[in-house]
Amino acid sequence: MKLTRRKFIKNSLRSVFGIIGLTGASYYYARYVEPRMIAIRNFTLESVKIPTSLHDVKVLQFSDTHVGYHYDLKQFKKLINEINNQKPDLILFTGDLVDAPHLYDFPDELPILLSQLSSPLGKFWIYGNHDHGGNGTEKIKEVMKAGGFKLLQNSHTRIGDNKGSFILAGLDDVMLGRPNIDEALHLVDPDIFTLLMVHEPDVADEIQHYPVDIQLSGHSHGGQVQLPIYGYMITPPYAEKYVEGSYQLGDRLQLFVSRGVGTTRMPYRFLCRPEISVYTLKSK
Ligand SMILES: [Fe+2]
Repeated sequence: MKLTRRKFIKNSLRSVFGIIGLTGASYYYARYVEPRMIAIRNFTLESVKIPTSLHDVKVLQFSDTHVGYHYDLKQFKKLINEINNQKPDLILFTGDLVDAPHLYDFPDELPILLSQLSSPLGKFWIYGNHDHGGNGTEKIKEVMKAGGFKLLQNSHTRIGDNKGSFILAGLDDVMLGRPNIDEALHLVDPDIFTLLMVHEPDVADEIQHYPVDIQLSGHSHGGQVQLPIYGYMITPPYAEKYVEGSYQLGDRLQLFVSRGVGTTRMPYRFLCRPEISVYTLKSK
């Protein structure tokens, strides 16, 4: 009953918001200013399981660019420069490259820009719901591959060398793909530091029962618009519980949810800046 009422109020507010929009200065700010104010969010991942050879390794995550929906290649180019300026060792993309693959013309410059991203330990990605949506599955895969990104779709890889390494795993999209956690973690040694990419954050409730130390997600857009007292404006399915920032689940799993870069459904961000996350590994 409580949930139904809350959902009703939320939907009503959303409709009102959609119809009348934001007014005056707030509208201008939410439409043209804040969506371009990219923030760099820094986190430290400390564990006895992180080998000393990987101490200070910088893992960068970006997510939910939604290119095409009020996000053009000029902005994407700026993002690429911003990411390279961070000098990451490893770059991870957690889904939703373009907003609507069936409506986008996929200019040649898109994979070219992706290929300009540079990180010595590689570039990896997972599918988001917007990548599978609109028949995008093969096209997005082709673009990401041309951009030098390796897909982790219910699979994992080892990052590092024989001096020390960790496991990087990726799950297929939960809403429109065929996610299989057992397959993604097949034969993974639970004593090895394991990082899993999953587009939808709320799946962490299930992931916490697997040998995963870190889950990196996006999808929520941090709600995109956050209103004082009311809170998050939009929380899509599978991002209703964990919306942004970090969460501890049980005694092992730490979940990090990125607010992402672009927007969807409404081209606004308010009190919810776009962001890139940088995780620095620390060997204890
Ligand atoms: Fe998204």
